[in-house]
Amino acid sequence: MKHLFKYGILLVLLSTLVQCKKHSAKPTGLVTKNAMVVSAREEASVIGAEILEKGGNAFDAMVGTELALAVAYPFAGNLGGGGFMVYRKNNGDVGALDYREKAPLSAHKDMYLDSLGNVIEGKSTKGATAVGVPGTISGIFEVHEKFGSLPIEDILSPVIALVERGVIVTEKQALRLEYYREQILEVNGDNTLFFNSCNVGDTLKYPALGNTLRRIAENGRDEFYKGETAKKLVSFIQEKGGYVTLEDLEKYEAIWRQPIIFKYKDLRIISMSPPSSGGVTMNQILKMIEPYDISSFKHNSTKAIQLFTEASRRAYADRNYYLGDPDFVDIPLDVLLSQKYLTERMADFTFDQATLSSDIERGNIQISESSETTHYSIVDQEGNAVSVTTTLNGAYGSKLYCDELGFFLNNEMDDFSAKPGVPNMFGLIGAQANSIAPEKRMLSSMTPTIVEKDNKLWLVIGSPGGATIITAVTQTILNAYEFNMSMQEAVDAPRFHHQWLPDHIVFETEGFSTSLKNSLKSKGYNINEDRTPILGKVDAVRVLPDGRLEGGADYRGDDTAVGF
Ligand code: DON
Repeated sequence: MKHLFKYGILLVLLSTLVQCKKHSAKPTGLVTKNAMVVSAREEASVIGAEILEKGGNAFDAMVGTELALAVAYPFAGNLGGGGFMVYRKNNGDVGALDYREKAPLSAHKDMYLDSLGNVIEGKSTKGATAVGVPGTISGIFEVHEKFGSLPIEDILSPVIALVERGVIVTEKQALRLEYYREQILEVNGDNTLFFNSCNVGDTLKYPALGNTLRRIAENGRDEFYKGETAKKLVSFIQEKGGYVTLEDLEKYEAIWRQPIIFKYKDLRIISMSPPSSGGVTMNQILKMIEPYDISSFKHNSTKAIQLFTEASRRAYADRNYYLGDPDFVDIPLDVLLSQKYLTERMADFTFDQATLSSDIERGNIQISESSETTHYSIVDQEGNAVSVTTTLNGAYGSKLYCDELGFFLNNEMDDFSAKPGVPNMFGLIGAQANSIAPEKRMLSSMTPTIVEKDNKLWLVIGSPGGATIITAVTQTILNAYEFNMSMQEAVDAPRFHHQWLPDHIVFETEGFSTSLKNSLKSKGYNINEDRTPILGKVDAVRVLPDGRLEGGADYRGDDTAVGF
């Protein structure tokens, strides 16, 4: 009898614990009933939300938000770059669009090497030689053609109005512009719009961009790839010594791709496929973590950090060797993502001692970071969801600004591996799979993701941050699911990062005590204490059990959730 009583109490306790985990975290971010846009700038979120409010769908809002970011957030928002979109329609259909830049026709494997075979500093990162063929305009027109519901002029007109009205400079923006001003002047000379420095509260107007957008609204996609804009762009890039030709622009196409889809416990995760490494690497990390009950370790505890780090170390080693543009290289996805392979990969992991990256090579089947990309998440009133990450690569891309057209050009060519074994600007070491070839797309880490729970839309999520994108997005999903945080809490929680090489963990400034770091060091982990950068800038939406939406707008930037 006594035993039965004890057993009964235990059962009640256990079921309360299970209930606690199942109980949805109380929202702490903006909550709206119908629809939401979360992006890096309030102006862009407002334009996206207004498009939804006037009856547009998530795809119309994608087009407006993408271009509004080019106006309000030229640091990463762009016409001269590219990106990836993952979507989930309200009927459960999912898909992905690749509007990544690609190498010009004249590109070749050794184009950034000198006669001795050494990488020429700056050639793939700064100025016209770093520019890949831009994909953004092709991307938004693909999205609009396939899924849009409003006329393109109705979507572009609020963006053009924003260009005319101008954008108020925020504190973070003023600091960024000041920080990069010298480099922008170095690349563009003194006649650029950015010659004058600006202060917080100033209004920045880009009349040339207004003209470009008006021509695009009138003439469509071809204006950018074949029309007057194309001709002006090509003669500008070539005058500055770059490689992109009119033929390159004419041949550019965005490509619909099958996303990476996998289960993590009772979640179904839909993320970006190659040429982004985001989905594959996140899939590997989560599947290596899945056999452990990470929620029983405290959030950001020694054990949780060890488990995440060891999974990341192994996944990034594979990323750097096997992944590249799937139209150019065979990626053994069936093996890389199989449970058998991933279980074997973690076979030597123990909580007693760090594995050394020098002992981890790619699987045997045969970084310096900041937040210069941008991500936005959209859910519309019909339940369609869009997750988009878009970039110029570095801050203001190659720093090359076309004053006549009003936008910056990417330096995405640096995402290729210029020479096997030599790290790129994110410290990522590439291999043959990501070597340069004409018309090839460079490997990305962008991870626009959608998560379903119980077959229903649950999270829309993504981040900037170069190589740290994948760990930032994965940790935020774990925060929400395993550690039962609200969307806003999950986004704000302190993050850490490990990418195989260099073999060290990087921590954000807050949230990681000296004793925690000491306990990791005692187990053989290297910690980079010189740098405590921002790791990603996650913008996400969570669908609450009653159907309302909670925004997670990263406090690390000017990011804002807007909805109704
Ligand atoms: O595609 C990529 O992975 C990079 N071009 C992303 C760059 C980025 O996130 C910049 N921010 N640090």
